[in-house]
Amino acid sequence: MKPGKIVVISKLKGGSGATTTTRELATAALADSKSVAIIDLDAQGSLTNWWNRRTAENPESGPKLIQVSPEKLPGIMDQLCGKFDLVLIDTPPSTHDALREIANGADMAVIPTKPTIDDLDAVGPIIRQLRGVVPMAFVISQVTSKRSPDAVEATELLSARAPVIGRTVIRVGYYRAAGSGQSGFETDKTVREEVQPIYENLMALLGDHHA
Ligand SMILES: Nc1ncnc2c1ncn2[C@@H]1O[C@H](COP(=O)(O)OP(=O)(O)OP(=O)(O)O)[C@@H](O)[C@H]1O
Ligand SMILES: [Mg+2]
Repeated sequence: MKPGKIVVISKLKGGSGATTTTRELATAALADSKSVAIIDLDAQGSLTNWWNRRTAENPESGPKLIQVSPEKLPGIMDQLCGKFDLVLIDTPPSTHDALREIANGADMAVIPTKPTIDDLDAVGPIIRQLRGVVPMAFVISQVTSKRSPDAVEATELLSARAPVIGRTVIRVGYYRAAGSGQSGFETDKTVREEVQPIYENLMALLGDHHA
Protein backbone atom coordinates (compact mmCIF):
# COMPACT_ATOMS: atom_id res chain seq x y z
CA MET A 1 0.00 0.00 0.00
CA LYS A 2 2.90 2.45 -0.44
CA PRO A 3 3.06 5.42 -0.74
CA GLY A 4 1.65 5.58 2.74
CA LYS A 5 -1.01 7.73 4.30
CA ILE A 6 -0.57 10.25 7.07
CA VAL A 7 -3.29 10.70 9.67
CA VAL A 8 -3.15 13.42 12.27
CA ILE A 9 -5.20 12.88 15.43
CA SER A 10 -6.43 16.41 16.18
CA LYS A 11 -8.31 17.95 19.04
CA LEU A 12 -8.74 21.17 20.96
CA LYS A 13 -9.88 19.67 24.22
CA GLY A 14 -7.57 17.72 26.54
CA GLY A 15 -8.62 14.18 27.36
CA SER A 16 -10.56 13.71 24.13
CA GLY A 17 -9.12 10.25 23.56
CA ALA A 18 -6.43 11.15 21.02
CA THR A 19 -3.62 9.07 22.47
CA THR A 20 -5.92 6.10 23.01
CA THR A 21 -7.20 6.36 19.44
CA THR A 22 -3.63 6.55 18.13
CA ARG A 23 -2.57 3.40 20.01
CA GLU A 24 -5.66 1.46 18.97
CA LEU A 25 -5.40 2.43 15.29
CA ALA A 26 -1.66 1.71 15.24
CA THR A 27 -2.12 -1.82 16.59
CA ALA A 28 -5.14 -2.51 14.37
CA ALA A 29 -3.01 -1.53 11.35
CA LEU A 30 -0.14 -3.77 12.51
CA ALA A 31 -2.58 -6.67 12.79
CA ASP A 32 -3.55 -5.86 9.20
CA SER A 33 0.13 -6.30 8.17
CA LYS A 34 0.72 -2.60 7.58
CA SER A 35 4.03 -0.93 8.37
CA VAL A 36 3.16 1.75 10.90
CA ALA A 37 4.95 4.79 12.32
CA ILE A 38 3.72 6.87 15.24
CA ILE A 39 4.74 10.41 16.13
CA ASP A 40 4.13 11.96 19.55
CA LEU A 41 3.94 15.75 19.32
CA ASP A 42 2.62 16.11 22.86
CA ALA A 43 5.19 17.15 25.47
CA GLN A 44 3.26 15.05 28.02
CA GLY A 45 4.77 12.07 26.18
CA SER A 46 1.93 9.60 26.87
CA LEU A 47 2.31 7.89 23.50
CA THR A 48 6.12 7.76 23.89
CA ASN A 49 5.75 6.24 27.36
CA TRP A 50 3.43 3.59 25.93
CA TRP A 51 5.91 2.84 23.14
CA ASN A 52 8.77 2.60 25.67
CA ARG A 53 6.80 0.06 27.70
CA ARG A 54 5.94 -1.83 24.52
CA THR A 55 9.48 -2.09 23.21
CA ALA A 56 10.84 -2.96 26.69
CA GLU A 57 8.58 -6.04 26.56
CA ASN A 58 9.35 -6.81 22.93
CA PRO A 59 11.99 -4.69 21.16
CA GLU A 60 10.97 -5.98 17.72
CA SER A 61 7.29 -5.09 18.04
CA GLY A 62 5.96 -2.25 15.91
CA PRO A 63 5.00 0.46 15.44
CA LYS A 64 8.12 2.51 14.81
CA LEU A 65 8.37 5.69 16.90
CA ILE A 66 9.61 8.70 14.91
CA GLN A 67 11.01 11.46 17.10
CA VAL A 68 10.76 14.83 15.42
CA SER A 69 9.74 18.36 16.43
CA PRO A 70 6.47 19.90 15.15
CA GLU A 71 8.56 22.45 13.24
CA LYS A 72 10.65 19.82 11.43
CA LEU A 73 7.85 17.32 10.77
CA PRO A 74 6.41 19.00 7.63
CA GLY A 75 9.82 18.65 5.96
CA ILE A 76 9.96 14.86 6.39
CA MET A 77 6.34 13.93 5.69
CA ASP A 78 6.96 12.94 2.05
CA GLN A 79 9.85 10.75 3.08
CA LEU A 80 7.71 9.05 5.76
CA CYS A 81 5.02 8.27 3.15
CA GLY A 82 7.60 6.39 1.13
CA LYS A 83 8.70 4.31 4.11
CA PHE A 84 5.46 3.41 5.91
CA ASP A 85 1.95 2.37 4.96
CA LEU A 86 0.44 4.43 7.74
CA VAL A 87 1.80 7.29 9.84
CA LEU A 88 -0.23 8.34 12.88
CA ILE A 89 0.48 11.67 14.55
CA ASP A 90 -0.74 12.27 18.12
CA THR A 91 -1.08 15.94 19.02
CA PRO A 92 -1.48 18.11 22.12
CA PRO A 93 -4.72 20.07 22.63
CA SER A 94 -3.87 23.15 20.59
CA THR A 95 -4.19 24.89 17.25
CA HIS A 96 -0.53 25.82 17.05
CA ASP A 97 0.58 27.10 13.60
CA ALA A 98 2.87 24.10 13.13
CA LEU A 99 -0.10 21.78 13.67
CA ARG A 100 -1.97 23.49 10.86
CA GLU A 101 0.96 23.00 8.53
CA ILE A 102 1.18 19.34 9.56
CA ALA A 103 -2.56 18.89 8.96
CA ASN A 104 -2.04 20.45 5.53
CA GLY A 105 0.44 17.72 4.65
CA ALA A 106 -1.71 14.92 6.08
CA ASP A 107 -4.26 12.79 4.22
CA MET A 108 -6.83 12.89 7.00
CA ALA A 109 -7.48 14.44 10.40
CA VAL A 110 -9.22 12.11 12.84
CA ILE A 111 -10.90 14.15 15.57
CA PRO A 112 -11.77 12.19 18.69
CA THR A 113 -14.37 13.85 20.87
CA LYS A 114 -16.28 12.92 23.98
CA PRO A 115 -20.06 13.21 23.65
CA THR A 116 -20.47 15.89 26.35
CA ILE A 117 -21.67 19.37 25.51
CA ASP A 118 -18.38 20.89 26.73
CA ASP A 119 -16.44 18.70 24.36
CA LEU A 120 -18.81 19.17 21.45
CA ASP A 121 -18.50 22.94 21.93
CA ALA A 122 -14.80 22.61 21.12
CA VAL A 123 -15.51 20.85 17.81
CA GLY A 124 -16.66 24.01 15.93
CA PRO A 125 -13.33 25.81 16.33
CA ILE A 126 -11.28 22.80 15.21
CA ILE A 127 -13.49 22.29 12.17
CA ARG A 128 -13.03 25.94 11.24
CA GLN A 129 -9.30 25.50 11.69
CA LEU A 130 -9.07 22.41 9.48
CA ARG A 131 -11.74 23.05 6.84
CA GLY A 132 -10.13 23.31 3.42
CA VAL A 133 -6.85 22.12 4.93
CA VAL A 134 -7.43 18.37 5.33
CA PRO A 135 -10.40 15.95 5.13
CA MET A 136 -11.81 15.24 8.59
CA ALA A 137 -13.47 12.32 10.36
CA PHE A 138 -14.76 11.94 13.92
CA VAL A 139 -14.42 9.22 16.52
CA ILE A 140 -16.84 9.64 19.40
CA SER A 141 -14.87 8.63 22.42
CA GLN A 142 -15.86 7.38 25.86
CA VAL A 143 -19.61 7.02 25.39
CA THR A 144 -21.48 5.31 28.22
CA SER A 145 -22.81 2.62 25.91
CA LYS A 146 -23.06 2.02 22.16
CA ARG A 147 -26.63 3.18 21.73
CA SER A 148 -26.84 5.58 24.66
CA PRO A 149 -28.59 8.93 24.04
CA ASP A 150 -25.26 10.76 24.36
CA ALA A 151 -23.73 8.61 21.61
CA VAL A 152 -26.76 8.95 19.33
CA GLU A 153 -27.05 12.73 19.77
CA ALA A 154 -23.33 13.29 19.25
CA THR A 155 -23.40 11.14 16.10
CA GLU A 156 -26.29 13.16 14.65
CA LEU A 157 -24.63 16.45 15.45
CA LEU A 158 -21.19 15.52 14.17
CA SER A 159 -22.17 13.55 11.08
CA ALA A 160 -23.63 16.76 9.64
CA ARG A 161 -20.06 18.12 9.58
CA ALA A 162 -17.88 15.11 8.65
CA PRO A 163 -18.07 11.29 8.69
CA VAL A 164 -18.30 9.64 12.11
CA ILE A 165 -16.10 6.55 11.75
CA GLY A 166 -16.94 4.96 15.09
CA ARG A 167 -17.44 5.11 18.81
CA THR A 168 -15.54 3.86 21.83
CA VAL A 169 -17.45 2.90 24.95
CA ILE A 170 -15.85 3.59 28.35
CA ARG A 171 -14.06 0.30 29.03
CA VAL A 172 -11.22 -0.70 31.31
CA GLY A 173 -9.77 -2.63 28.37
CA TYR A 174 -8.64 0.62 26.72
CA TYR A 175 -6.30 1.69 29.51
CA ARG A 176 -5.47 -1.58 31.27
CA ALA A 177 -3.59 -2.89 28.23
CA ALA A 178 -1.63 0.35 27.91
CA GLY A 179 0.16 -0.43 31.18
CA SER A 180 2.10 -3.17 29.43
CA GLY A 181 2.49 -1.31 26.14
CA GLN A 182 -0.37 -3.13 24.47
CA SER A 183 -3.72 -1.93 23.21
CA GLY A 184 -7.30 -2.87 23.92
CA PHE A 185 -7.44 -4.10 20.33
CA GLU A 186 -4.73 -6.63 21.13
CA THR A 187 -6.01 -7.81 24.50
CA ASP A 188 -9.77 -7.40 24.76
CA LYS A 189 -12.28 -8.91 22.34
CA THR A 190 -14.98 -6.30 23.01
CA VAL A 191 -12.54 -3.45 22.41
CA ARG A 192 -11.31 -5.16 19.24
CA GLU A 193 -14.87 -5.34 17.94
CA GLU A 194 -15.18 -1.60 18.55
CA VAL A 195 -11.82 -0.61 17.07
CA GLN A 196 -11.83 -2.84 13.96
CA PRO A 197 -14.67 -0.92 12.24
CA ILE A 198 -13.07 2.42 13.16
CA TYR A 199 -9.86 1.23 11.51
CA GLU A 200 -11.67 -0.16 8.46
CA ASN A 201 -13.73 3.00 8.00
CA LEU A 202 -10.60 5.10 8.23
CA MET A 203 -8.77 2.97 5.66
CA ALA A 204 -11.78 3.11 3.34
CA LEU A 205 -11.80 6.92 3.57
CA LEU A 206 -8.08 6.86 2.80
CA GLY A 207 -8.79 4.85 -0.31
CA ASP A 208 -7.42 1.48 0.83
CA HIS A 209 -10.12 -0.97 -0.15
CA HIS A 210 -8.28 -4.05 1.01
CA ALA A 211 -8.44 -3.25 4.73
N1 LIG B 1 -12.91 4.30 25.63
C1 LIG B 1 -12.27 4.56 26.77
N2 LIG B 1 -12.60 3.88 27.90
C2 LIG B 1 -11.99 4.15 29.07
N3 LIG B 1 -11.05 5.08 29.23
C3 LIG B 1 -10.67 5.79 28.15
C4 LIG B 1 -11.25 5.58 26.86
N4 LIG B 1 -10.67 6.43 26.00
C5 LIG B 1 -9.78 7.15 26.70
N5 LIG B 1 -9.77 6.76 28.00
C6 LIG B 1 -8.99 7.35 29.11
O1 LIG B 1 -9.33 8.73 29.17
C7 LIG B 1 -8.18 9.54 29.40
C8 LIG B 1 -8.00 10.51 28.22
O2 LIG B 1 -7.75 9.73 27.04
P1 LIG B 1 -6.49 10.03 26.13
O3 LIG B 1 -5.26 10.16 26.95
O4 LIG B 1 -6.50 9.03 25.04
O5 LIG B 1 -6.93 11.44 25.58
P2 LIG B 1 -6.01 12.59 24.96
O6 LIG B 1 -6.90 13.36 24.05
O7 LIG B 1 -4.79 11.99 24.37
O8 LIG B 1 -5.64 13.41 26.25
P3 LIG B 1 -4.49 14.56 26.39
O9 LIG B 1 -5.20 15.84 26.06
O10 LIG B 1 -4.08 14.46 27.82
O11 LIG B 1 -3.43 14.21 25.41
C9 LIG B 1 -7.03 8.57 29.59
O12 LIG B 1 -6.87 8.33 30.96
C10 LIG B 1 -7.49 7.31 28.86
O13 LIG B 1 -6.92 6.15 29.41
MG1 LIG C 1 -2.84 12.53 24.55
